[in-house]
Amino acid sequence: MTRGEFNSKRVLLTGAASGIGKACTAQLIREGARVVAVDVDESGLRALSEEVGGELSTFVADLSQRGPAEEMVAVAVARLGGLDILLNNAGIGSFGRAVDTDPETWRRVHAIDLDAVFYACRKALPHLVESKGNIVNTASISGLGGDYGFTAYNSAKAGVINLTRNLAVDYARDGVRVNSVCPGYVLTALTSQMPPPIAQAFTESVPMGRGAQPEEIAEAICFLASDRASFITGHALVVDGGKTAETGQPNNMAVMQKALAGAGQ
Ligand SMILES: NC(=O)c1ccc[n+]([C@@H]2O[C@H](COP(=O)([O-])OP(=O)(O)OC[C@H]3O[C@@H](n4cnc5c(N)ncnc54)[C@H](O)[C@@H]3O)[C@@H](O)[C@H]2O)c1
Repeated sequence: MTRGEFNSKRVLLTGAASGIGKACTAQLIREGARVVAVDVDESGLRALSEEVGGELSTFVADLSQRGPAEEMVAVAVARLGGLDILLNNAGIGSFGRAVDTDPETWRRVHAIDLDAVFYACRKALPHLVESKGNIVNTASISGLGGDYGFTAYNSAKAGVINLTRNLAVDYARDGVRVNSVCPGYVLTALTSQMPPPIAQAFTESVPMGRGAQPEEIAEAICFLASDRASFITGHALVVDGGKTAETGQPNNMAVMQKALAGAGQ
């Protein structure tokens, strides 16, 4: 990445206090952006400010509610004098098959992971039309297919990917680009809550044999948000260490190696 790539760009970024959002904020600030960082985690935002410095201001908002999701756009526009880039990144996970997913969980996951993206885009778009800006939404490979026990999350993230495509098409002639990033397994607070056997199973399921560092996802988000992606819109950029490139069939090489090792004992 070129130094100062985001010089004076006015950015609103959600879920900034941790993981992918934190890495993204750090990269943008290093590259000269002016950032309004939003999160529900007030102390996390304080720590972010101390760590990252630069032209960063913070705004505490619970994005499960429409009011704060809209208010953060007004706050960012007022503080920055307009808006060039909106990064909808805040999100929560959920676990449970359909019958085990209570309606409150279903609603909360959709409120934070999908509704807030819509409310923010809706309020930000007039400003982005003015600046010929762009949006990057953090979706997931869980929006591209079905996972075992991720009912609400699969639904919400699929919604983010297709909302992104719709906005890309609707606002292309206005000069606004809209893209999504689809991470696979990333080593953040979200996934550190997983019991060790599940974390190990995730690691083993990735062809590259590891989870991503948040900085590796931030790099993809910043690329799409930069002028280097000037003809890319409506794209869902997969960053998953090869996970969705495979068919899901058994790893025959690993099975054979294990069998041979067993026979040699
Ligand atoms: N970690 C992964 O493996 C992974 C994989 C695919 C997609 N993602 C997506 O990446 C995004 C970032 O996740 P992460 O892994 O960095 O997780 P994280 O938990 O480290 O960060 C998420 C941030 O969102 C904030 N947040 C949660 N609920 C909020 C609310 N109601 N209002 C405002 N802020 C809220 C949290 O406080 C936190 O700072 C999410 O949208 C997530 O779904 C993560």
